[in-house]
Amino acid sequence: MAFKTTRLDRFIHRSSDFSIADTRLLIAQKRIVVDGLPAESVQQRVTAFTQVTLDGSRLSDAKAIYLMLNKPQGLVSATKDPEHATVIDLIEHPIKDALHIVGRLDFNTTGLMLLTNDGAWSRKISLPATKLSKTYEVTLSKPLNESYIEAFQSGIYFAYEDLTTQPAELEIVSPFTARLSLVEGRYHQVKRMFGHFQNRVLALHRVSVGSLTLGGLELGHNRLLTRRELEDAGLD
Ligand code: URA
Repeated sequence: MAFKTTRLDRFIHRSSDFSIADTRLLIAQKRIVVDGLPAESVQQRVTAFTQVTLDGSRLSDAKAIYLMLNKPQGLVSATKDPEHATVIDLIEHPIKDALHIVGRLDFNTTGLMLLTNDGAWSRKISLPATKLSKTYEVTLSKPLNESYIEAFQSGIYFAYEDLTTQPAELEIVSPFTARLSLVEGRYHQVKRMFGHFQNRVLALHRVSVGSLTLGGLELGHNRLLTRRELEDAGLD
């Protein structure tokens, strides 16, 4: 019996957040392995039964699944880690090894994380042009004041990248706690924004991404997104 075959570059694109153009480089870098051997060409044909891995994680273009997880502290936002448990270890779904993470959280950050096997969906969420708002509850080491609100609205200069952050909304909840909404996801962004005021972030918890909120999902638990949530998020 003959199985439907797909070009390797299309398969990788459908199963990850890499573009078709990126796949050539991934293959040249020997990051793609097909049935145990480094991939040779973007034109190589694969079937649903071929084992294709990217950096050791299995890729799959099986039915799309979308999952939300409430990340506890002390887990790595990665699919594999040599030292620590990862968020994938919390999941019991049969195709959990095909999932990738949409927007990482730091080791000690808690809260809403999204995982999927749908590369197009995660690309859309992550695109700067989508400007999806991410809201965090932040606990600080020093008291806040009104000057933070204006500074975050105007943007904070990040010398390393030589850029100014997009306008962000800060709501001061109490002297040491705030809610911050960002439309970007730069490396350690929240900590670096408060770092501008030499104010250390003691606790960071992501409560929402766009219209998706944790609701009552307990720390360490995960669930599939509903069709309604996907439609409301405008990302379907
Ligand atoms: N900003 C940070 O500094 N850390 C996170 O985990 C998320 C956003």
